[in-house]
Amino acid sequence: MKISRLLDVIQPSATLSINAKAKELIAQGIKVINFAVGEPDFNTPAHICAAAKAAIDEGFHRYTAVPGIPELRSAVAQRIEEDYGLAYSPEETVVSTGGKHTLYNLALALFEPGDEVIVPAPYWVSYPDILALAGAKSVVVPTLEAEGFKLTRAQLEDALTDKTRGIILNSPSNPTGSVYTKGELEALAETVVQNDLIVISDDVYYRLIYDGLEFACLAQLGPELKKRTVIASAVSKTYAMTGWRIGYMLGPENVAKAVSKLQSQSTSNTCSIAQKAALAALTGPQETVGVMAAEFDKRRLFVIDRINEIEGMSLPRPQGAFYAFPNVSAYYGKSTGQGVITGSIDMAQYLMEDAHVAVVPGEPFGEDTCIRLSFAASMEMLTEALDRIEASLEKLA
Ligand SMILES: Cc1ncc(COP(=O)(O)O)c(C=O)c1O
Repeated sequence: MKISRLLDVIQPSATLSINAKAKELIAQGIKVINFAVGEPDFNTPAHICAAAKAAIDEGFHRYTAVPGIPELRSAVAQRIEEDYGLAYSPEETVVSTGGKHTLYNLALALFEPGDEVIVPAPYWVSYPDILALAGAKSVVVPTLEAEGFKLTRAQLEDALTDKTRGIILNSPSNPTGSVYTKGELEALAETVVQNDLIVISDDVYYRLIYDGLEFACLAQLGPELKKRTVIASAVSKTYAMTGWRIGYMLGPENVAKAVSKLQSQSTSNTCSIAQKAALAALTGPQETVGVMAAEFDKRRLFVIDRINEIEGMSLPRPQGAFYAFPNVSAYYGKSTGQGVITGSIDMAQYLMEDAHVAVVPGEPFGEDTCIRLSFAASMEMLTEALDRIEASLEKLA
């Protein structure tokens, strides 16, 4: 059967494909350490699961309002007021089927074919594909490792054309773990206002920040920025709820209405039970978030030290999320005995086959010199995986 040409503009998600390949090898009995996963290795906290069970038992089984149950939309607004100091009404929020769905809805609602959207690289793998499905053009702007992989005002200005409509910012970043400070965002803010850009601020990792840094978002920099910014977020990473599929947006009411209209003709409401669970997550005790973040931090410090011991690997210090994005290009051009490593895809394949460690190549994140490792894994697994990686790298000639 002929497949629509619409799908020619996108690739399958690289991270999900690596995950599938790792699972395939594990099923064959090979002890693969999966360093490719983009999800917390904790279970969803008990009080959240209890809320879902209660919702099932109470018969909360039917369609809900398309943009989410009113109490959840209020809870989203309240959580953001508490965490960002910003006031949104429930009508300025929409609950969708995960953070990715939120971003997809926003791309369709905000951009038109021919619009250019600035995407600083390294970027989260799905942005270019999501924008392509909306017909918009990603203008990829490489950032520098030496500048912590963060976009500068000069880089932003150089990328502007008369077609530029928006920009996607992601802090803390997947894959680099970099975190924009308030000062760095202030430097971008004037250009955003002067050029009337729409900002999609993908904040899914905003509660996972280390080194005493404080989270900052462009929307916090005054009314002119708030009205141009849409916050996209999710309960997935913060509350170890990746499988529950709850994401949300906050932004101008006309954007929320447009997203809701779009959703009314696609998914309708997201799962009623998952909405009740997300309500418990956002309004219930928040201690588990700190416990999880503290555990990630311990592992992060271990990974930074261990990677820096490995010859030929360099690592810009990740300060948020749960990823390390080391530069491995010192090994490019070396031989595995069966072929030459020419880039991050070869490197990821070599590490999967030789070290039995699944990592994600940097290429689909827009940075081929690096690979992405996740530290959402136990200390024992991290220790073993990095030992195996070091041994495999030493074999390259
Ligand atoms: C930067 C970023 N944005 C959005 C998402 C999507 O999150 P969700 O699992 O809620 O769809 C992810 C997931 O990996 C992510 O890393």
